[in-house]
Amino acid sequence: MALLMMIYRIIFVIVVLIGSTSADLSWFYPASPLTGFVAAPGAPWPMPESWQNSTSQMTLDPLTFQFTSDLTDCDVIDNAIQRYMKYIDLDPNGVIDPGLTQLTGLTLTVDDTNCAQDYYPHQGMDESYSLTISGSTEGSLSAKTIWGALRGLETFSQLLYLKENKMYRINQTTIIDAPRFPFRGFLIDTSRHFVTVEVILNILDLLSWDKFNVLHWHISDDPSFPYTSRTYPDLTMGAYTPDHVYSRDNITKILYEARLRGIRLLPEFDTPGHSWSWGEGYPALLTPCWGEGLEGGPFKPNYPYHGPSEVINPMEEYSYEFMDNFFQEIAEDFPDGYIHLGLDEVNHNCWASNPNISSWMEDMGFTELNQVEQYYVERIIEIVARKGSYYIIWEDPINKGVKVNESAIVVVWMGNWEESMSRITSQGHYVILSSPWYLNYISYGEDWRTYYAIEPLSFTNNATLWKLVKGGEACMWGEYVDSTNIISRTWPRISTVGERLWSTIDVKNVDDAQYRLHQHRCRILRRGMPAQPIMNSFCGDYEWDYDRSPHNTPLS
Ligand SMILES: *[C@@H]1O[C@H](CO)[C@@H](O)[C@H](O)[C@H]1NC(C)=O
Ligand SMILES: *[C@@H]1O[C@H](CO)[C@@H](O)[C@H](O)[C@H]1NC(C)=O
Ligand SMILES: *[C@@H]1O[C@H](CO)[C@@H](O)[C@H](O)[C@H]1NC(C)=O
Ligand SMILES: *[C@@H]1O[C@H](CO)[C@@H](O)[C@H](O)[C@H]1NC(C)=O
Ligand SMILES: *[C@@H]1O[C@H](CO)[C@@H](O)[C@H](O)[C@H]1NC(C)=O
Ligand SMILES: *[C@@H]1O[C@H](CO)[C@@H](O)[C@H](O)[C@H]1NC(C)=O
Repeated sequence: MALLMMIYRIIFVIVVLIGSTSADLSWFYPASPLTGFVAAPGAPWPMPESWQNSTSQMTLDPLTFQFTSDLTDCDVIDNAIQRYMKYIDLDPNGVIDPGLTQLTGLTLTVDDTNCAQDYYPHQGMDESYSLTISGSTEGSLSAKTIWGALRGLETFSQLLYLKENKMYRINQTTIIDAPRFPFRGFLIDTSRHFVTVEVILNILDLLSWDKFNVLHWHISDDPSFPYTSRTYPDLTMGAYTPDHVYSRDNITKILYEARLRGIRLLPEFDTPGHSWSWGEGYPALLTPCWGEGLEGGPFKPNYPYHGPSEVINPMEEYSYEFMDNFFQEIAEDFPDGYIHLGLDEVNHNCWASNPNISSWMEDMGFTELNQVEQYYVERIIEIVARKGSYYIIWEDPINKGVKVNESAIVVVWMGNWEESMSRITSQGHYVILSSPWYLNYISYGEDWRTYYAIEPLSFTNNATLWKLVKGGEACMWGEYVDSTNIISRTWPRISTVGERLWSTIDVKNVDDAQYRLHQHRCRILRRGMPAQPIMNSFCGDYEWDYDRSPHNTPLS
């Protein structure tokens, strides 16, 4: 029986190999019946809003192909053209098909010519574009803004494929596209583990291939504080080592590269909880937690209820002066206009243990620790709002009845997300969904299907509440990832979230998606990034080509 199975398998493999030509972008092992529509090569991910495909093919020579833009002197466009020149060069041995009309160039037209150095991707930016390959030698890409042009260039690069004898092909097509949700984010956590600057830069590229537009940078947390502050340089005393820090140059570089890819860099400095590392350089910031009464002095842990200290001291004016100066710097240095304030998982046990907090509460007329939290939240929000910044917060304060300004965007991250979305939008708040997309939870098998199947609007039928959903974000919390595995663990699982947040509500067939997703994963490998497989398959004659990675790699 086993022998018979083996012979069947060998026959299968032979059939598959004959059936595929070596230049195909991808191939599946078809032993188990796979259902769904088998996408032709050159199928884009995420699926555009409208994609008029055709069977008329053209050919292209990446070495002579020219992108031309009516926008001159625009670094965002110039840099993108350089990147995409590289991406369309799919194979050093690729050739044109002499029997087909050659597409010799793509003309970019951008309505809003703003490309100033201080013009950054921002909440509500227009990312729409249209792309036409009509059969003439010149294709056209038009967009309202440079950000839309970036999305269109990515789609264009995905339409290209190689067929028999490594001949370049691109089908005639008309695409009209725009995102479904304005906020499409990814959270990285550089406190639990340091992630090298090179890997963060690689992540920016990967995000742009999935048309994500926000890198939510959870910079600090209890374990380490890797951010170099201008105002409070001793904060990096909370870094793991002086090597595990983001220098001022590094931060500037990450911001610069994010802008070039149309990606917002959303900084999060989480307080008043998750703040242990702040205290390494500035111990007066933290509430001393008390272990056993007063004896033994402050900063005494009482496990498992609390460590020695991890929560900002809400009763000291020093804390607010510090935060005022610190967030002044962040508002100046991060151009996004939004700051993520954290405000999650405040450990009330620590506050409860400290007799000074208790007597201060009496003075203030507070009878509950929620009121202390409310007090801190109000003051921190007032500080940030005064700087003209908008803020994003985790859902915790809202769940505890803490009031925040209506302009706040609330990130839903807890288990019963439909209930949270419904309740928080009913209170008039904007929301971003992240709970079902905690990619740091891993399991055997095709968990991407679960992520793909999530519909962020399924919590209600009320269109008024739908309007408050700004989008979603995938999260890769850092307890068990660092530079060695963050990319391969995240991609292509996160690509499912990219499509869910970009494509229209009816692009939802998981079986159909698998063929395009597999193709997309092969595209990522070809561009030099280690994305993990989603099924039994291979990528034509491509394997992961490390040397093509846009930035230096973590392993070098
Ligand atoms: C082309 O578009 C048609 C109509 O939308 C669709 O049915 C067909 O599957 C598409 N073909 C490919 C190869 O994607
Ligand atoms: C492109 O054209 C080829 C050849 O006509 C066809 O087989 C394929 O389905 C087309 N691809 C798409 C994505 O429409
Ligand atoms: C990060 O900053 C350090 C110190 O300024 C510098 O040596 C290093 O080259 C920077 N890394 C990158 C990738 O720019
Ligand atoms: C409590 O307050 C007293 C008086 O201000 C101060 O000396 C002491 O260090 C404080 N202790 C704690 C744990 O905050
Ligand atoms: C909400 O924030 C806006 C903008 O910062 C401010 O004008 C408004 O007064 C705030 N409202 C409340 C209730 O705090
Ligand atoms: C939809 O939600 C809004 C805001 O909570 C509410 O005022 C309205 O009555 C709801 N509509 C329906 C049909 O339930």
